[in-house]
Amino acid sequence: MKVALGADHGGYHLKNNIKDFIIKLGHEVIDVGCDCSDSVDYPDYAIPVCEKVLNGDADKGILICGTGIGMSIAANKYPGIRCALVHDTFSAKATREHNDTNVLAMGERVIGPGLAIDIVKIWIETEFSNEERHVNRINKMNTIEKEATIHP
Ligand code: RB5
Repeated sequence: MKVALGADHGGYHLKNNIKDFIIKLGHEVIDVGCDCSDSVDYPDYAIPVCEKVLNGDADKGILICGTGIGMSIAANKYPGIRCALVHDTFSAKATREHNDTNVLAMGERVIGPGLAIDIVKIWIETEFSNEERHVNRINKMNTIEKEATIHP
């Protein structure tokens, strides 16, 4: 599997831990930066990760910032991206099985590297359930992306 990985300065250290771990699992990492802990803007790293997932250069994406919140908001602006902000192993499994998420966001200032690595392993290795009810719900979200209107 190819995993696109990006972080801002708030997630830079955890990104490096996760990069090493994913490579040890036998997967390929496309690291889009950032490359040091100087202050940067998280959307600038969410963009290349989401583009790589959507154009097929990567199978999945992982985004790290201080909280994971900015990254998850930015990623979910892209039609076709389903990004989950996850800080526990139960949600890591559930969001793959139920939501077929293709991007994972986490916050370096929220969780430690041990838990983050457990989350990454579960999220990467869990398949979408393909159960009809979950497929239907994802299809409804896809319809929102195409047709959302705001009713007065
Ligand atoms: C950067 O200070 C911080 O705001 C960012 O990493 C992230 O937590 C935003 O959601």
